[in-house]
Amino acid sequence: MGFLLNCIECGKQYEPAASGYLCGCGGLLDIYIDIDQAKTQVSLEKFDERAKNSSPGRSSGVWRYKELIVPDFDDDAIVSIHEGNTRLYDVPQLAKSLGLDALQIKHEGENPSGSFKDRGMTVAVSRACQQGAKIIACASTGNTSASMALYAARCGIKALVLVPEGKVSKGKLAQTIAYGAITIEIEGDFDDCMKMIMDGAQSGMIYPMNSVNPFRPAGQKTIIWELLQQKNWNPPDWIVFPAGNLGNYSAFGLAIQEFYDIGLLKKKPRLAGVQAAGANPFYKSYCSQFENRYTVQAETLATAIRIGNPVNYPRAVRALKWTDGVVTEVDDQEIMDAKAQVERGGIGAEPSSCAAVAGLRRLLKENIIKSDDNVVVIFTGHMLKDSESTLSYHTGKIPGIDSRYAGKLYKLKPTISHLGKFIENELEKN
Ligand code: F0G
Repeated sequence: MGFLLNCIECGKQYEPAASGYLCGCGGLLDIYIDIDQAKTQVSLEKFDERAKNSSPGRSSGVWRYKELIVPDFDDDAIVSIHEGNTRLYDVPQLAKSLGLDALQIKHEGENPSGSFKDRGMTVAVSRACQQGAKIIACASTGNTSASMALYAARCGIKALVLVPEGKVSKGKLAQTIAYGAITIEIEGDFDDCMKMIMDGAQSGMIYPMNSVNPFRPAGQKTIIWELLQQKNWNPPDWIVFPAGNLGNYSAFGLAIQEFYDIGLLKKKPRLAGVQAAGANPFYKSYCSQFENRYTVQAETLATAIRIGNPVNYPRAVRALKWTDGVVTEVDDQEIMDAKAQVERGGIGAEPSSCAAVAGLRRLLKENIIKSDDNVVVIFTGHMLKDSESTLSYHTGKIPGIDSRYAGKLYKLKPTISHLGKFIENELEKN
């Protein structure tokens, strides 16, 4: 089969038969894209042609770019549920409130399981099935597990999920269990779960589906290519997004660098990753110019990114260097306020996604991003993924958080006269 795995540390190349996800030297692996070969195989016109084709097998916003994901992957082995093709929204009111001339949001929460994870999962599950894996496994803060469980259910493979006890939103846990994954709550945090997966993968006990698996970031690259395509191949100046385990930082860097090397992109957008201040190991490393690799004991309301030891660190540092990227941090108050403000403008997302808007505000204030820059924010998860935190904010029930932009929830007796009085007193006077 026409693809190789490539160690990002020592450059050693592996035949696809190799099932490990780390090189013998301990380095992470990429799926190798032969740039010269790609130049002869793909073009922007070809991608545009394919985007018009909605026939089964061509309707995926991931597999449209197949040559640059897993070259020569067998079409019959693909497990796809029309993932991708997420919308790009103009958000003029939000732009104005941030002091930007214009702003767009690409909403990855519109994927089948409600998060961007489906982009990488279609690739990784297709590969796992092709290799005859019996049990696929992941550690998760909830979205990876929901996505893996969904794709596993589609192709009839067993799924094993490790989640940190009490730290996954109900919606995500419900999805994971409902799609049939064997779901285990671990008395520990995400990083403990992740370590168990890495240890299990090293000993060959399990088939890991976290983003250390190179097939995951390979699929997530398509977020960037699809975004460029929606912008008629005119790159934005900045792409701003939340950063946890750093799979997206890694994948976005690869997507930009490969497109650039192939000659499909004239100017590279800059990446801006936003971490929660309570889960900020990458931000701390960035502040030390990557002299030190930090880990932290993570704590944040944005549970999706409650990660203290991101496994993709080396890939993300590389991506940052390729794209002249930056990293920033925002606290939980800023995250929840940004979420309330964004949603009042008619577009919703889970807290971790809204951290990106809070981070954008900070980068504008620091004059790193300028008011006339062309900016796109990536929303990573659907608003209903974490309705507990939304309701808790709006009812003023989050300890330590001031619900400054809270909406209101009223109670009334069940008569029309009560409703009439309510409208008179509460609505008409405002
Ligand atoms: N946004 C959401 C909604 C997520 O679920 C995650 C990660 C991230 C951002 C961070 O992305 O890891 O690529 O930096 N969720 C993982 C999970 C950890 O298990 O669902 P990253």
